[in-house]
Amino acid sequence: MQTNRSGRDNVRVFFALWPSAEMRRSLHQLAGQFQAECGGRCMRADTLHITLLFIGEVEKSRLPALMQAADRVRAAAATIELTQFACWNHNRIGYAAPDVLPPTIAALVDALQREVSASGFAFDARAFKPHVTLLRNVRRGLEAQAFPAMFWPAAEFVLVQSQLSEQGAHYEILQRWALQG
Ligand code: 2AM
Repeated sequence: MQTNRSGRDNVRVFFALWPSAEMRRSLHQLAGQFQAECGGRCMRADTLHITLLFIGEVEKSRLPALMQAADRVRAAAATIELTQFACWNHNRIGYAAPDVLPPTIAALVDALQREVSASGFAFDARAFKPHVTLLRNVRRGLEAQAFPAMFWPAAEFVLVQSQLSEQGAHYEILQRWALQG
């Protein structure tokens, strides 16, 4: 936890889709396969996720308001089909992504942005690029390529607290919300 200039406690948080343990294992294995080709550092299986909305630093006392904003979000469950591995040169990330984003997940992100904003929270409104970061510090960026599809049934979204340390990021799920089946 950070303390800001006014002496209040801050936490770094984001909304995400969190995969099942089985899905995390499969994704971690996939990371290892691509690491052989492009180098870099594999993310630990317990850190793998898709960020829906990155909020960043908020005062801890405002977390209940952030959670109440998410309580107002209604969105349908969906299955995400991860099919592509690609790399970004600007941040040396290797990631898995869907070819096509289910419209209900795009609607979920819109609803989160709307409700969070209505509650007075600021966020980075860059276009949503759904991805699971598998590798960091990639040495040789690869062209986008297909892998055998992985089906991720997304039945909930979560609010996550991120703590950065020398060992890497540690993520703690603070709250879960079911998506409508
Ligand atoms: P990344 O994996 O592509 O780095 C926790 O840091 C999560 O929030 C990661 O999924 C990270 O994406 C994402 N994230 C970090 N900073 C962000 C920002 N400024 N805007 C959007 N997403 C961010």
